[in-house]
Amino acid sequence: MPAELICFEERCRARFPITDAIYNCPHCGGLLEVWYPPPAATPAELKRIWRERRTSNAPLDQSGVWRYREMVPFLESYDRVVTLREGHTPLLPAPPAATYGGLDALTFKHQGFNPTGSFKDNGMTCGVAQALRLGMARVACVSTGNTSASMAAYASAAGLAGIVFIPHGNISYGKLAQALEYGAKTLQVEANFDQILALVRTLAERLGIYLLNSINPFRIEGQKTIIVEMLDQRDWNPPDWIVLPGGNLGNTAAFGKALRELHGLGFIARMPRLAVIQAEGAAPFYDLMLAPARGFHAVSHPETLATAIKIGDPVSWPKALREVACSGGVVEKVSEQEIADAKAVIGRCGIGCEPASAATLAGIRKLTASGTISASADVVAVLTGNLLKDPDYIYRYHTGKLEAPDGAAIHSRFANQPVVLPNDADRIAAFLQG
Ligand code: F0G
Repeated sequence: MPAELICFEERCRARFPITDAIYNCPHCGGLLEVWYPPPAATPAELKRIWRERRTSNAPLDQSGVWRYREMVPFLESYDRVVTLREGHTPLLPAPPAATYGGLDALTFKHQGFNPTGSFKDNGMTCGVAQALRLGMARVACVSTGNTSASMAAYASAAGLAGIVFIPHGNISYGKLAQALEYGAKTLQVEANFDQILALVRTLAERLGIYLLNSINPFRIEGQKTIIVEMLDQRDWNPPDWIVLPGGNLGNTAAFGKALRELHGLGFIARMPRLAVIQAEGAAPFYDLMLAPARGFHAVSHPETLATAIKIGDPVSWPKALREVACSGGVVEKVSEQEIADAKAVIGRCGIGCEPASAATLAGIRKLTASGTISASADVVAVLTGNLLKDPDYIYRYHTGKLEAPDGAAIHSRFANQPVVLPNDADRIAAFLQG
């Protein structure tokens, strides 16, 4: 029995061939998921095989996505897979961040160590593999910056034409630079992420371009391996909590699916709880969890300096809702000040990350203060993007010039001001001694 696409909606559950280039259920419009028959090997056998592949020099085995290919078996052949050796990102203990977050211990799973500097690479290698299998010549995405950087790289590596749509003036230069350098046709549109996504979906259909946003279910499959790899690195001991930032909510959908599948197959005996953290100015999922009876309402003008998660109408909210509920999880929101301070603390651990990623630590601090997460809990926070993605934010924070989108000053509690000195050994010595 081959893998299939299945409608996520309980009332529909229609099934479609894995080779249909569709992003929503043609019957009811629901989101699609990839469905697989159970693997032939037992969890114990797969755990052993995956461990052995770590010592292999074969490109597929060196990828932290394709090493776990039995968890994402949607291809018939791996001949045309393009890997930039994504994944195998480290688990980093961070004692100062733990203290700041009100925890005894905290570990970061740092997806910023990926080839293009974010977790998007885990999903993109799968999305591009599917594009190649379908014979697509062009791939496109709208992005707050990381998806476009990743898609640009994988499209070029695969010999596909990449077209990226970005909200003009609203992504960091680091990310824009990546799309340009990797050779994607880069369209800066004067609209926000949500508006451009609607536009790109129409264009993709009209022009026969394959869409690689996280509405694409194969992206979600690749991002599942972040969880598989994290559990492998922890010798299959699940943490109590997995904390992640929420924007378009693709990662929340992916992590939840991975946990359900691993639990269902017997890889882990219990489910960790998901804690999804949103920025206050772009928190429609938080609002939904607070008052589910009101239903989902998009935020029409999302605002946050954490531009990666500046999204008001997240596509994957129905999946994310199910996954948070299934895991007994929570959703929290954090302010610009809280994100900025948490980010500086993560930097001081020698680890660093981009603003959206720091929402995790800011959220942990709130969730321990409210007693939702206990100090002794075993917590893994996923840092989604590399520190160098947004150097402008960092410079402004450390020089006391960072302002919230509404113009309010952000207090640089952990500022590390650069110092200008003359070319004079005595003056420099005096400065260093004083
Ligand atoms: N963190 C970073 C660094 C991101 O780039 C994103 C999303 C998120 C968190 C949120 O993840 O959407 O799965 O909830 N960036 C997308 C992009 C939207 O276009 O690069 P999500």
